[in-house]
Amino acid sequence: MNVLGIETSCDETSAAVVRGEARGQAATASCVILSQDVHAVYRGVVPELASRAHLVAIGPVVARALADADLPLEAVDLIAVTAGPGLIGALLVGVSYAKGLSLAARVPLVGVHHLEAHLFGTVLDDPAAVPPFVGLIVSGGHSLLLDVRAWGDYRLLGETRDDAVGEAFDKVAILLGLGYPGGPAVERAARAGEPGRFRFPRPMLHARQRPGESDYFDLSMSGLKTAVIQAVKRTGDLAAERPHLARGFQDAVLEVLVTKTVRAADLTGYRRVVLGGGVASNHALREALAAALAARDATLHVPSGRLATDNAAMIARAGLFRAAEAGRPVDAAARLPFPGLAA
Ligand code: KG4
Ligand code: ZN
Repeated sequence: MNVLGIETSCDETSAAVVRGEARGQAATASCVILSQDVHAVYRGVVPELASRAHLVAIGPVVARALADADLPLEAVDLIAVTAGPGLIGALLVGVSYAKGLSLAARVPLVGVHHLEAHLFGTVLDDPAAVPPFVGLIVSGGHSLLLDVRAWGDYRLLGETRDDAVGEAFDKVAILLGLGYPGGPAVERAARAGEPGRFRFPRPMLHARQRPGESDYFDLSMSGLKTAVIQAVKRTGDLAAERPHLARGFQDAVLEVLVTKTVRAADLTGYRRVVLGGGVASNHALREALAAALAARDATLHVPSGRLATDNAAMIARAGLFRAAEAGRPVDAAARLPFPGLAA
């Protein structure tokens, strides 16, 4: 089956072709990602500008993905498009385009949940990244810790109570006078930072927490952000302290994420953890988590290269899994319940 994936939920216009079977292996035949750099000027995504940029790019990006895969439109078996969650105007561009294409080419259309798709981002290049596993999805808009019992069968272990992890990186980058997107900039700055020079709080992390208590897996970033604000105000020389502040912030985030993910691996007994979302690009996180899991004979699976941040290959792969749902009405939705999530 040839699936054309389309993703426009935030500030990446992406199209990809994935080939495979709904319940079997699948591989990426092409993946085009156009990142909108207009938002760097404003140090954050401006929704209206995102929608307009998607509108300009969507046609050529889809055409390029089909050409790269050497696939005529008539040979596409299924179109998968991100229906939500995301920026409503941005989502509408992808969904409207996909609906038009589906009607014109008489190809079935399926709507995909963006966060479920992040769970599928790793298995495209790493066939071992299959359930059961603990899923840690950390992006600009969401932070979720999931028990993935099987594809389509999920249990929510924890989530953020305020800012998403990527959002915290982006906000701290602004406080430190770094550019957008903030995650990569903070990570780069932190490399030259001295560990322990700034010791920030580890939010929602205490030794006394027990499984069953809601804060055992939940995350919170706002108190940490406030601590960074205060430290920035106190410091006389931001340029000199920048790497140390970045390092202190990143170390605090990593300790919380690693501890809670290891707790999830212990509780479920799973030997695999799959990382997804933009923050999965963070090398320090990958290394710390892989080391903590290796000590328990568990392995970390991470999306390769550009498949950590938003891309249409993961949308096509998730759409392949959801192929039986093609034909149901597809509507863009800023908020969308996670499919297959047990109460
Ligand atoms: O998944 P994604 O591309 O878009 C959303 O669905 O939100 O994630 C983008 C987020 C941004 O907040 C960005 O700062 C963060 O991922 N990010 C990082 C790194 N690369 C991207 N955060 C920390 N370290 C990184 N290296
Ligand atoms: Zn995402």
